[in-house]
Amino acid sequence: MSGKTVLVSGGAGFIGSHVTVELIEAGYDVVVADNLSNCDLTCFEGVKKITGREDIPFVEMDFCDFQAVEKLYDDYKIDAAIHFAGFKAVGESVSDPMKYYHNNLVSFMNILTVARKKGGCILFSSSATVYGEPDKLPVTEEAPRKEAESPYGNTKRICEDILRDCVAAYGELKGISLRYFNPIGAHPSALIGELPRGVPNNLVPYITQTAIGKRECLSVFGDDYPTPDGTCQRDFIDIVDLAKAHVCAVERMLSGKMTARYEIYNIGTGRPLSVLELVKAFEKVNNMKLNYKIAPRRPGDVTAIWADPGKANRELGWKAERSIEDTLASAWKWEKRLAGE
Ligand code: UFG
Repeated sequence: MSGKTVLVSGGAGFIGSHVTVELIEAGYDVVVADNLSNCDLTCFEGVKKITGREDIPFVEMDFCDFQAVEKLYDDYKIDAAIHFAGFKAVGESVSDPMKYYHNNLVSFMNILTVARKKGGCILFSSSATVYGEPDKLPVTEEAPRKEAESPYGNTKRICEDILRDCVAAYGELKGISLRYFNPIGAHPSALIGELPRGVPNNLVPYITQTAIGKRECLSVFGDDYPTPDGTCQRDFIDIVDLAKAHVCAVERMLSGKMTARYEIYNIGTGRPLSVLELVKAFEKVNNMKLNYKIAPRRPGDVTAIWADPGKANRELGWKAERSIEDTLASAWKWEKRLAGE
């Protein structure tokens, strides 16, 4: 939708940079804002290269600073905001909950408060973590949300509630929460991708770092789960597919197609894959043997979760398209590029 401006908070990070590329390719003007607390400008530079746009505005700012958020909305005529700015390390949120509640809730309140004054559409990046261990699979948006396993997960749930309640009360706001399943992979250009700090928590970065020799051995956490091969099952969704869902959601908000002023969508493939199946797929597509061992279960992991993406398919007109092979090849290409190969 040309002529419309979308703010991407946390736009220099993994998901934000892929979303920025897709928005620009769909004809939007994008303002990227980030405090660079958990990333550097590598991905933002990659976004400029992929899109061939040197003029994308970048604002280094903290969304916990209310005046800075007001100034941002004054400086740019923002039609919709996608909010990614937030901390996301599950373990750290358990050891330092105050950091997580403060940063993730205050930054979201600030953006909502300003968007309310300026008349705003807000897209919130939520997570399938709000479902906990689901009673029924695949999981639909109507499934009950469970007690969060971590303060990080709780901030996702609380922000969803804040958005729902504010949209209900203030006619000038519209909102969508996208509940992501497990985003993996990288842009096919290998110019942007995930840059985990320190030892990765997530499976795919751990696999690629093991494959490149940065880590000695992947630990597969638990092979005694009640699943077909005993390892946990997840819905791994390609990062570019996931990014495209944001374009569809923004389009829906701005074109007045929403049927309610607050909507929720699952963003997943609908296809379960176990940890071992993913490891095997990685080995096959990249033609290598991965060093891995079975280790004890990781506390807090759910056994199995995958999406029913039907609502997003029907109402957003969006569907995950990339194969797991292409996604894992892109993850490996990105890791090799980081290693300078
Ligand atoms: N796993 C391993 N070894 C590893 C890393 C992960 O076996 O080194 C397994 C996990 O036990 C799990 C699966 O791979 O069964 C996926 O783990 P990830 O950490 O990649 O992803 P999660 O499903 O735990 O994480 C998701 C989101 C997070 C979110 C979290 C909340 O990706 O952003 O749910 O619990 F915070």
